Amino acid sequence: SAMELPFAESYKIKMVEPIRKSTREERERWIREADYNLFKLSSDKVFIDLLTDSGTGAMSDRQWSEMMLGDESYAGASSYFKMKEAIREILGFEYFLPTHQGRAAENVLFSALIHEGDIIPGNSHFDTTKGHIEFRKATACDCTIDEAFDTQKDHPFKGNVDPVKLENILKSSADRIPFIIVTVTCNSSGGQPVSLENLRMIRQIANRYGKMVIFDSARFAENAYFIKLREPACRDLSIRQIVSEMFACADAMTMSAKKDAIVNMGGFIAMRSEELFSKACVYNIMFEGYITYGGMSGRDMNALALGLYEGTEFDYLETRIRQVEYLGNKLMDMGIPVQRPIGGHAVFVDAKRFLSHIPKEEFQAQTLAIELYLEAGVRAVEIGTLLADRDPVTRENRYPALELMRLAIPRRVYTNNHMDLVATALKNIFDRKSAIQKGYRIKAEAPIMRHFTVALEPA
Ligand code: F0G
Repeated sequence: SAMELPFAESYKIKMVEPIRKSTREERERWIREADYNLFKLSSDKVFIDLLTDSGTGAMSDRQWSEMMLGDESYAGASSYFKMKEAIREILGFEYFLPTHQGRAAENVLFSALIHEGDIIPGNSHFDTTKGHIEFRKATACDCTIDEAFDTQKDHPFKGNVDPVKLENILKSSADRIPFIIVTVTCNSSGGQPVSLENLRMIRQIANRYGKMVIFDSARFAENAYFIKLREPACRDLSIRQIVSEMFACADAMTMSAKKDAIVNMGGFIAMRSEELFSKACVYNIMFEGYITYGGMSGRDMNALALGLYEGTEFDYLETRIRQVEYLGNKLMDMGIPVQRPIGGHAVFVDAKRFLSHIPKEEFQAQTLAIELYLEAGVRAVEIGTLLADRDPVTRENRYPALELMRLAIPRRVYTNNHMDLVATALKNIFDRKSAIQKGYRIKAEAPIMRHFTVALEPA
């Protein structure tokens, strides 16, 4: 009988970018000179860069063609209208404001909505989101389901909000809550999706308390893919139909287009309310630029608009997410502890389990990321104690429930041979992990979002 054809990518490669290998001796010197902070390494010192999937994707030939058609008019550019049309058609929002990236969208929208003392419930807020909340002397309240914090427990929607946790905070503090924010997929819990059922339930709870629901939508299309695969009621819906159903539950959204719109730079806010739009316009003009470009050039708006269409095609999403799964499955087969199931944009290695003999005060996930760089020139990122930062009041280190090393896979960039190399490098470290005797300590750090610039030394 005929064999089932293997899975293969839904694109071919038209342009390549050489990357450079290095020796372990070189890497030992480079990482020391970078104060053991992978953000401080220049990219030519990295062989496979899995620091982030943000802005690191490869645009399609069609997106590059759109770049040539960009309208760079200051006001009312056709590129603005292309973006407006894509947002209306795919996401269903009437009003939008371009911003230069996702955190800028947060800055503009939160300036209009958050006041000192407010509480913003959500599912494991991303660090810039939390930063923009705390910067305004408000607090982020994490209502993610408990299952998300056990990496070894399988659950199809570890990004879900726990309705009891959400109701509790609404019951006790409704007057201090301007909106609920839901991150799809939930980056901080491992690129884990939120089910459509959960989004609808959040909408219902919000309605009962008269609250807005805002989606942090950086990876909304990956979320829709998981809904299609894992939520039986949605199996026969297209990705675009699922996306419509998801956003029907939201009043507004922030978007880092550097992820699921597959562009190198860009973002936006979208909303239904004209009143909120008018309020946000003021901040957009102040922080980003006039309302029809908001920090983006016309050509980038063109590529973004097309990226929204490409990013919501099933074949593209299947190719992308299956590659992440390919790496994740390899690591699981090797016995390496990872957040299960594998998320949409990255594999999250459980550093607390991997380096259980290193004390948490010595930054287990960062220690593992440094080892991986030394082993193979692969750059991962710490999603652990350094990122969690200090408590704004007590200034004590916050030790998060999960101490993860993230291997974020850029879209349409690396092949599965690169994934094989990453997996083998981690296996080598896993086999010799008892020889890793200590972690790192902080030499210098910034008062907020310290992980970008922190200087470390061996403990
Ligand atoms: N929200 C989520 C869920 C994100 O993952 C990010 C960025 C942002 C907001 C902010 O967007 O970078 O365009 O300003 N995440 C990147 C990452 C940095 O590596 O996960 P931005």
